[in-house]
Amino acid sequence: MARILITSAIPYINGIKHLGNLIGSQLPADLYARYQRGRGNEVMFLCATDEHGTPAELAAAKAGKPVADYCADMYAVQADIANRFGLSFDHFGRSSSDQNKRLTQHFAGKLDEAGLIREVSEKQVYSNADGRFLPDRYIEGTCPNCGYDRARGDQCENCTKQLDPTDLIEPRSAISGSTDLEIRETKHLYLRQSAMKDQLDAWIDSKADWPILTTSIAKKWLHDGDGLQDRGITRDLDWGVPVKKGDQDWPGMEGKVFYVWFDAPIEYIACAKEWADASGKPDAEWERWWRTDKGADDVRYVQFMGKDNVPFHTLSFPATILGSGEPWKMVDHLKSFNYLNYDGGQFSTSQGRGVFMDQALEILPADYWRWWLLSHAPESSDSEFTWENFQQSVNKDLADVLGNFVSRITKFCRSKFSEAVPEGGTFGDREQELIAELTRRVRAYEGFMEAMEVRKSAQELRAIWVAGNEYLQSAAPWSTFKEDPEQAAAQVRLGLNLIRLYAVLSAPFIPETSARMLSAMNTLDTSWPDQVAEALEALPAGHAFTVPDVLFAKITDEQREDWETRFAGTRI
Ligand code: MF3
Ligand code: ZN
Repeated sequence: MARILITSAIPYINGIKHLGNLIGSQLPADLYARYQRGRGNEVMFLCATDEHGTPAELAAAKAGKPVADYCADMYAVQADIANRFGLSFDHFGRSSSDQNKRLTQHFAGKLDEAGLIREVSEKQVYSNADGRFLPDRYIEGTCPNCGYDRARGDQCENCTKQLDPTDLIEPRSAISGSTDLEIRETKHLYLRQSAMKDQLDAWIDSKADWPILTTSIAKKWLHDGDGLQDRGITRDLDWGVPVKKGDQDWPGMEGKVFYVWFDAPIEYIACAKEWADASGKPDAEWERWWRTDKGADDVRYVQFMGKDNVPFHTLSFPATILGSGEPWKMVDHLKSFNYLNYDGGQFSTSQGRGVFMDQALEILPADYWRWWLLSHAPESSDSEFTWENFQQSVNKDLADVLGNFVSRITKFCRSKFSEAVPEGGTFGDREQELIAELTRRVRAYEGFMEAMEVRKSAQELRAIWVAGNEYLQSAAPWSTFKEDPEQAAAQVRLGLNLIRLYAVLSAPFIPETSARMLSAMNTLDTSWPDQVAEALEALPAGHAFTVPDVLFAKITDEQREDWETRFAGTRI
């Protein structure tokens, strides 16, 4: 039995995620986790909310809540939606947990001991009225380029010009509106990534099997221009992990917090401790996943993320863990995704454009979305959601192919035999051919799933469903029955067993439907079809079943048009 550690990039706390976020990391990670569990491997699948930083503070302010309350509320919302989408995390943690706070401070202490932290003095805008430093986007004023009077210190929303806070005419605090601003000196900690360039370079070089998309991004940051730059890892904010070295104060760093991108990936590790602590397990239980000196040397660690996250996962986070000098488990395979677009444009959280996870579940069950998203995953290039494509794929793949197969065979058996697997007859050439085709396709499916080729896996699964339909069409038990009821019995027996086989193979994609298929087939046998021929005899003659309700309803043109209009605008 292999041991597989899986993490999905942790979603920002600032609002409900859209379908583009979902397919960029959490959903494919779930597919892989469910598949590996289905193969009998030991899986630890972790995700969390990313709760620190300016975006969290801003969203809380907009919601009129203290930031800690906002995060607690939004965590509950995100956890509930993830659950309803069937995301099978072993733990869904929070980067604001006490475990992450301690571990982040621990790493900073180790990096400092290793001489990898340096202090830098910077000039930053301070607001006397607010009693705090203001991040660039907390400063508003008039754009020097277009005259827009609500331009932010980092960019003008009106003309898109990138700005420095000092460019703004009549700058004011976005928090209080006060113009009583001054430039003050402030000290920050920098992680000396430049000193670790060779180590990181060698580590990337050891990953010969990583996709070019991934390694080329890492190499670009390592070698372009002046090479890998040191990174500021602290901020003048209230909300975040207080800057300390382990549990010791850090002189000169009082009132500062670590930068959100420093503590967020550390949450991958802290999340495992949260998991253990939540059920009273000893530290050894989570350390066997994360410490190579405590059992994690035989773990395979796979990360899932969108392409914009790649530099942080190939450079910054590895710099943190390598720099600590401690034996932490490093990533073995990194699966990254391009973007999913929405109907001729981009999904956008800030503009409320597209379909968000809560809205999706209001109109259709999770499996419809899971199937479409996974079978159209933006792997080799960006992909696009359109309602027409969604309707087509649901109606064809799910309703016509899979749903129809299940309905036809169970109903036919009930009407001509009974609600039990019929007895008699033997398998002939047609059945042997089907078994041979399925054997070939199941092996191909396993290969694609193992390689995290999401689209190809979906295509192969669909072909497996199609093979069953074609068999049914050509065997035509409804005709056979008239001359040779024994042979029809054998055909139907095979068909009913195919339903169980499909439930097992399809579970990673459409877990709810898979569970309904198994329950209709009245079986708990979810064993993987290592031998297809054997798997097709799992339900013996006489085994009772029930005809399930329609598995997938077709999407009508009327519904499609209705949703098209409903989601054409933006949500507020
Ligand atoms: N919150 C980030 C995003 O949505 C991802 C953080 S991943 C981690 O892009 F590595 F930092 F955890
Ligand atoms: Zn402007």
